[in-house]
Amino acid sequence: MSLLFASLPVVVIVTVRYGAELLAFCRQLFTQAVKLTRGTVSINKTHAFVFSNCTHGQVDSVLETFHLYDLTYPSLCIGQVKGEFLDEVVSRATPQWVLELGMHCGYSSVRILRLLGPAGRLLTVEQDPETADKGEEIILVAGFKHPQFQVLACPSAEAVTGIQARLGVAQHLDMVLMDHDTGQYLTDLLALERCGVLTPGCVLLVNHVFCLKGRPFLEHIQARPQCYAQCRQLQGMMELTWNRASDVC
Ligand SMILES: C[S@@+](CC[C@H](N)C(=O)[O-])C[C@H]1O[C@@H](n2cnc3c(N)ncnc32)[C@H](O)[C@@H]1O
Ligand SMILES: *[C@@H]1O[C@H](CO)[C@@H](O)[C@H](O)[C@H]1NC(C)=O
Ligand SMILES: *[C@@H]1O[C@H](CO)[C@@H](O)[C@H](O)[C@H]1NC(C)=O
Repeated sequence: MSLLFASLPVVVIVTVRYGAELLAFCRQLFTQAVKLTRGTVSINKTHAFVFSNCTHGQVDSVLETFHLYDLTYPSLCIGQVKGEFLDEVVSRATPQWVLELGMHCGYSSVRILRLLGPAGRLLTVEQDPETADKGEEIILVAGFKHPQFQVLACPSAEAVTGIQARLGVAQHLDMVLMDHDTGQYLTDLLALERCGVLTPGCVLLVNHVFCLKGRPFLEHIQARPQCYAQCRQLQGMMELTWNRASDVC
């Protein structure tokens, strides 16, 4: 009993000082628990929900419907917080050619496309053909058209190997988003390095970079500070810039 009273001030201090964070944390736990009761991630469910609940042709409505889905069901999309980070990077980089590895239902693709200039192009890769079809449909529903974007329904390794043929005369990539398979990150990055399509200053945005399987990737870039400048990191999503300033790269 006396122990209880003795710890009371601590509890009060913790609650007052960290109350907001504590509340946010509890809310997040609760949301996750609710989501778990709603089954596993399903591309069909995500697609059906967004397709039938958004206003077709309105990009903001498409994104809001994704957020609504994300509130209740487990989802693979990067979500709103990382989405805003992505927005910021795209707005700053004003890329012409963007490569996205891991399209899923098209959430991050739509976020990118809405911020590209008239000459901006997105190549997005999804290895599962059914998912690729569904994601492509959502991008079209959001109001984007070919050739602003192109969906490559193949494994990233295959897409990266044939990338030069997909790029226009300029033959360069200004931005790469990796959100597919952490175990594949390094292989794909090395292939991009080898074929010389990364422009100096090319921005890489890499999700789940601290995953165990992502370690070889992390070691590769950390061992080459003259080639890769680490900019920022948010919830495991890291922004890097490819320098290619020296002969080492
Ligand atoms: C986390 S989801 C991508 C989410 C998406 N970026 C978004 O925010 O909406 C990862 C996707 O990558 C795909 N994928 C996994 N490994 C892949 C690979 N090696 N090549 C291409 N796609 C892959 C999966 O099928 C899945 O749809
Ligand atoms: C998802 O939808 C496709 C048709 O678009 C269907 O062939 C497939 O069986 C569905 N998958 C599941 C798990 O319901
Ligand atoms: C549309 O949204 C409502 C709730 O906002 C949901 O109950 C319904 O299942 C959604 N439609 C589809 C096809 O998922």
